[in-house]
Amino acid sequence: MSYPYQLKNFEEYQQAWQHSVTDPEGFWADVADHFYWRRKWDKVLEWNFKEPDVKWFTGAKLNITENCLDRHLGTLGNQPAIIWEPNDPEERHRILTYRELYNKVCQFANVLKNNGVKKGDRVCIYMGMIPELAIAVLACARVGAIHSVVFGGFSAQSIADRIQDAQASLVITCDGAFRGGKDIPLKSVIDDALMACPSVKKVIVCTRTRTPVSMLKGRDVWWEDEIKQVETMGNPPAPAEEMDAEDTLFILYTSGSTGKPKGVVHTCGGYMVYANYTFINTFQYKPRQVYFCTADIGWITGHSYIVYGPLSAGATTVLFEGIPTYPDAGRFWDIVDKFRVNVLYTAPTAIRSLMGFGLGPVNHKDLSSLTTLGTVGEPINEEAWHWYKDQIGKGKAPITDTWWQTETGGIMIAPLAGITKEKPGYATLPLPGIQPILVDENGNEIEGNGVNGNLCIKFPWPGMLRTTYGDHERCRTTYFATYENLYFTGDGCLRDEDGYYRITGRVDDVLNVSGHRIGTAEVENAINMHAGVVESAVVGYPHDIKGQGIYAFVITEKKHHDLELTKKDIIQTVSRIIGPIAKPDKIQFVSGLPKTRSGKIMRRILRKIAEGELDNLGDTSTLLDPAVVEEIKQGRL
Ligand code: PRX
Repeated sequence: MSYPYQLKNFEEYQQAWQHSVTDPEGFWADVADHFYWRRKWDKVLEWNFKEPDVKWFTGAKLNITENCLDRHLGTLGNQPAIIWEPNDPEERHRILTYRELYNKVCQFANVLKNNGVKKGDRVCIYMGMIPELAIAVLACARVGAIHSVVFGGFSAQSIADRIQDAQASLVITCDGAFRGGKDIPLKSVIDDALMACPSVKKVIVCTRTRTPVSMLKGRDVWWEDEIKQVETMGNPPAPAEEMDAEDTLFILYTSGSTGKPKGVVHTCGGYMVYANYTFINTFQYKPRQVYFCTADIGWITGHSYIVYGPLSAGATTVLFEGIPTYPDAGRFWDIVDKFRVNVLYTAPTAIRSLMGFGLGPVNHKDLSSLTTLGTVGEPINEEAWHWYKDQIGKGKAPITDTWWQTETGGIMIAPLAGITKEKPGYATLPLPGIQPILVDENGNEIEGNGVNGNLCIKFPWPGMLRTTYGDHERCRTTYFATYENLYFTGDGCLRDEDGYYRITGRVDDVLNVSGHRIGTAEVENAINMHAGVVESAVVGYPHDIKGQGIYAFVITEKKHHDLELTKKDIIQTVSRIIGPIAKPDKIQFVSGLPKTRSGKIMRRILRKIAEGELDNLGDTSTLLDPAVVEEIKQGRL
């Protein structure tokens, strides 16, 4: 496998970026030419950001799994595709070559077909990080089913919401999942979720933890039994379904500033080209290197940079079941040492947490194989950046701080490792093909350097979302209506004197807790479900390890109750409704919330209080009840 579109130096980067602006269609056609299409496109791009209506490679036919698997068999059949490292270091790791992965995906594609799955059906996947998760994802893509992977940390209620929204007909899960010292009973969570999901006709359960599970007759089947059945059929071939470039590949739910999470829709052709192109260029991946992304496949990072990007590039991708601190805080470094990892892609929150354990867990681990380091998901503070650079990369490996979103499908702004300049805390420059602009509140472009504004993108790119599932209007209003003819990211951004971009964080009511995106409205809705709660307001505050913590201001009914117990109950409620990732870090009971005369909560004031900026609250005289601010200040946690 060679990558003719891998940029090799700064001049090539500059030329490519120029080319992508003056002739975007030509630029992307050149990249797309290096994939396997059953039929090539009639037109590279048709678009408007008004409706929005964006189509890439119209008329083209393909199946992404033929690009991730079939086309590598001749040259890379015996190369490791996936190296799987289990949660428990005592358990044996597994290596799946491209041929083995291909065979397993074909087998499971036949399992899906035997269970009635057809092109266009929605399949919900709720599994731990085992190879079968990647196999399930790829098998869906092979038969043309739309996968919706739900992160294993979400609650039954969250799963039910996602299944109902997508009207999924089949669920793939495990008996349980190992994560650190915990054994998470996935199947039992699914059983709870499915009480409210009549669309689901079948559940396929893969064995992992051997936790006892209840199997519902006629609905639930074992993964292993279904595979045996395919084997007794003589392992028939599993031809890949021919997909239109604009057919949906997957839905991935993500939080916004209002209401329930929305299903971001990505399509087959554009997403494939973009995930692959960004993988190869950002990490400067070289054939036969070992690449390790520590994300979970339940998030977009796992979709694009554990599964589709690396596999479409014929790379060797490490899949790790566990957590960075189990059995101790040296686990990532053990994995790097064990498999001679060359490229490591992780989150600032993990780096900050591991930094806290000092150098003990790093010392005596051989990290000399590392050539490239990456981060994603949230701003990285300079201290963590330097620790990563010096202690992990030993000062030699370039760091690529990659800015992107579930909606963008792939990396948008980032240094090309070792090719373009890095700058601590900065995502630096846009990839060729990406045209960022900063705008002020009225949508006027802010030109020049040394400026701050809201980050927008003014031209389409192949990996961008096409819609939000079942509600196109929501897609339009969320991303394309704030500023005319622009995609609005929701992020604030600085462009420094050199023209380098630094993401300063969300400007909407979305929190980023340990790199997980959580809507404040979602957490408030969950808190408000608790019987004793009258009203609540949630804001973020700076947290040393998580980046942002969740601070909840809560009004309860005036009863004599044990406030500590109520706190615990509220946390339990949030955990049950959303999942443990959304648990508030601080809960302050208040008698009122600062509101405008029209009844709108003044989050700006609450945010300042949570951040401890008590002297700088701005004008509070227009509030309905200015006295309440004083009370909240006094009670600050
Ligand atoms: O605020 C930005 C932050 O994460 C948001 C996207 O979250 P999500 O869709 O969950 O995707 C995360 C993984 C791609 C963005 O709007 N974010 C992501 N990467 C960075 C970042 N903030 C600063 N620097 C980054 N490198």
